[in-house]
Amino acid sequence: MQSIVIFASGGGSNAAAIINHFRESTTARVTLIVCNKPEAGVIEIAKNEGIPFLLISKKTFGELLIVEQLREFSPSIIVLAGFLWKIPEHIIHAFPGIIINIHPALLPSYGGKGMHGQHVHTAVLANNERESGITIHYVNEAYDEGNAILQARCAVLKSDTPVELSKRVLKLEHFYLPRAVEFFLFFSR
Ligand code: GAR
Repeated sequence: MQSIVIFASGGGSNAAAIINHFRESTTARVTLIVCNKPEAGVIEIAKNEGIPFLLISKKTFGELLIVEQLREFSPSIIVLAGFLWKIPEHIIHAFPGIIINIHPALLPSYGGKGMHGQHVHTAVLANNERESGITIHYVNEAYDEGNAILQARCAVLKSDTPVELSKRVLKLEHFYLPRAVEFFLFFSR
């Protein structure tokens, strides 16, 4: 069984999409959810699904022990699904090539520190962009700069609010992220 570890900071709709996608899988399952916010919706999801979760602080995330804790779950892939902290180098070096992130815009535009969630969609609208979308990419030491795995696009309507645009983009996320994980796992067997 391949092991999927998810890092998330928020409501966890992408985490839920991955959990659902692999619910009946005979080859992979979500084994751990790592979260930096005790009140995040993703913690409720983990509890309801009976999936172990690990709450981290800035301090514990910066310590080497986290690598040992993650290794106990033998991750085949680590998915940042709405995880808003930068990944420290000791984690990147311990799990080379298996950490991926989803970003709610077409990188390299609208990426980098502070560009997350509604901030991204507000910036896209402020620039009168005609399209936006998602980028799924490998994670390296620099925010949002690892090689892209896939991008998918959607229209930006003149009438869009950030919330309306985020809903359209989230639909792309929920469709593509679980499938990107599936492809990744297939080719890493
Ligand atoms: C998603 O839109 C994801 O792309 C974004 O956070 C949201 C989390 O939603 N991630 C970033 O902005 C990373 N820079 P969710 O908690 O419902 O999955």
